[in-house]
Amino acid sequence: RALPRVLSGIQPTADSFHLGNYLGAVRNWVAMQDDYDAYYMVVDLHAITVEHDPQALRRRTRVSAAQLLAAGLEPQRCALFAQSHVPEHAQLAWVMSCLTGFGEASRMTQFKDKSAKHGVGAASVGLFTYPILMVADVLLYQAGFVPVGEDQRQHLELTRDLAQRFNTRYGKAFTVPEPYIIKDTAKIMDLQDPTSKMSKSASSPGGILELLDDPKVNAKKIKSAVTDTEREIRFDEENKPGVANLLRIYAALGERTIPELERDYEGKGYGDLKKDLADLVTETFQPFKERTEEILADTGKLDAILAEGAEKAREVASRTLAEVYDKIGF
Ligand code: ADP
Ligand code: NA
Repeated sequence: RALPRVLSGIQPTADSFHLGNYLGAVRNWVAMQDDYDAYYMVVDLHAITVEHDPQALRRRTRVSAAQLLAAGLEPQRCALFAQSHVPEHAQLAWVMSCLTGFGEASRMTQFKDKSAKHGVGAASVGLFTYPILMVADVLLYQAGFVPVGEDQRQHLELTRDLAQRFNTRYGKAFTVPEPYIIKDTAKIMDLQDPTSKMSKSASSPGGILELLDDPKVNAKKIKSAVTDTEREIRFDEENKPGVANLLRIYAALGERTIPELERDYEGKGYGDLKKDLADLVTETFQPFKERTEEILADTGKLDAILAEGAEKAREVASRTLAEVYDKIGF
């Protein structure tokens, strides 16, 4: 029996993943490799919706792939590739954009958020239509379900609508994916502002733990994390979001559950908790950083892994696109 297929992507828009990316996405990808026919991509096409530096993009695509391998993805157990190496993404996106109403695309709230800073007039058309590229990303692989965060729910609805529209109008070419909304319980918060999520675009340098940063820098950031004026180490997201965040990170990286940690730290201070967590973060990410650097040192090998992943992806993607082209009269 064939394994269920899953597709996920991550943007190469930073020189390191942050702890939220790792705990909210990367680690799950690794865990899913054997139970799914998994397609994981570094979405470089999405990274050019805003102005970018070509050299930085090329470097970050490799750094992203290297980190995914260092985290435990293995080319024999999944397909790991760069989105631009599979031309079917852009090709299907054009077809799907011709099926999307302008009003329908205009209702995507992320464009409103993302274009607010510089104004709609300054945003690229690519930023406006990027949800349609996401639609193509998913539909190419005929994935039965797509794991997404709450913020992507609207895009998944668009995916379902467009898949159904195509299937009705031209004949069935697509699996209509089920939404699989990942709960916010895995959300890692900003260390300096624990009521908003750790984010590469919104967090201050002190609020974000970058996996490839110097372990000493990260230890210092944990020790400076914002907590509260009480002393009690207790998981209370509403009243003690800083401490709750530290406990959540601790439980996610270590072997103790949150209630166990609460018991362990009874009568101890925030300083003790922070010091132990800083040690755990160093222990976890020092070897990760070394592995990533080793992988990056052999660019030829890394590029070969991505080429092999793209070939695997194209076996599926080209079949879907051929079906679509045939049905629409190409
Ligand atoms: P950012 O929000 O920093 O720009 P992305 O949007 O590129 O990060 O997210 C890449 C992946 O990492 C997504 O699957 C997203 O759900 C996950 N992710 C990002 N930030 C967090 C966070 N603070 N906590 C948990 N998961 C996160
Ligand atoms: Na697999």
